[in-house]
Amino acid sequence: MNILGIDIGGTGIKGALVDTKTGNLTSEKHRIATPRPATPEKVANAIQRMVNHFNWKGAIGCGFPTPLLHGKCLTGGNLHEEWKGVQVDQLFTNKTGNEYSIVNDADAAGLAEISFGAGKNKMGVVIMITLGTGIGSGIFLDGKLLPNTELGHVLYKNGEIFEKYAADSVRKSEKLTRKEWGKRLHKYFDHINLILSPDLFIIGGGASKKLGKFIDQIKIDTPIVAAEAENEAGIIGAAMAANFQIK
Ligand code: BGC
Repeated sequence: MNILGIDIGGTGIKGALVDTKTGNLTSEKHRIATPRPATPEKVANAIQRMVNHFNWKGAIGCGFPTPLLHGKCLTGGNLHEEWKGVQVDQLFTNKTGNEYSIVNDADAAGLAEISFGAGKNKMGVVIMITLGTGIGSGIFLDGKLLPNTELGHVLYKNGEIFEKYAADSVRKSEKLTRKEWGKRLHKYFDHINLILSPDLFIIGGGASKKLGKFIDQIKIDTPIVAAEAENEAGIIGAAMAANFQIK
């Protein structure tokens, strides 16, 4: 079944039609820069443009870069404080008339990988960590998602969260080499490994394409692999969320 999957990120909004049975994209990807400021009104307008681009009348699954409860945004995250408390599915439905299922972006990427990619048929605890503008997480036990975990918000030191120390956006803004950044990621993964003892980590987000350039710095025993769908995992998983009616 074809669903329009949309991955809303801190810097880009990416969409494609997805065959949710196979996890394959059935259209070209379309990208729109995330509007700044990323207020609900401006992002809803960008979603309208995305829907118009595909001339799509059917269901839409949307990965959203904040924790959510039943489609309601709990924090503004890296978007805008005005998002807090917004019923995101309702806002987008009012805008475009389509039916939406909203899921956390990292949960979406994890769903795609557990179903079709690096986490397929993996039992035990599998943790998807997305490295992009923020750090997102999706935790799976025997293939089943524990939604809305926020492992990027684990405290690092002096009240600062790991996301502000080790996200890919921090690598860029502080002009860190991949080796320097990798050392920061080592501290992060070592800590998450200690508190959750997973069987496998999957790295998603923009950084997944460059795993070879920093993986040597992360010296933990637990295997770490790149998302097989790389940055497309977020789009594929968003579409799957619509199919499974995760709300
Ligand atoms: C948000 C998460 C999101 C992650 C990646 C974090 O700032 O709190 O919900 O998954 O960024 O976008």
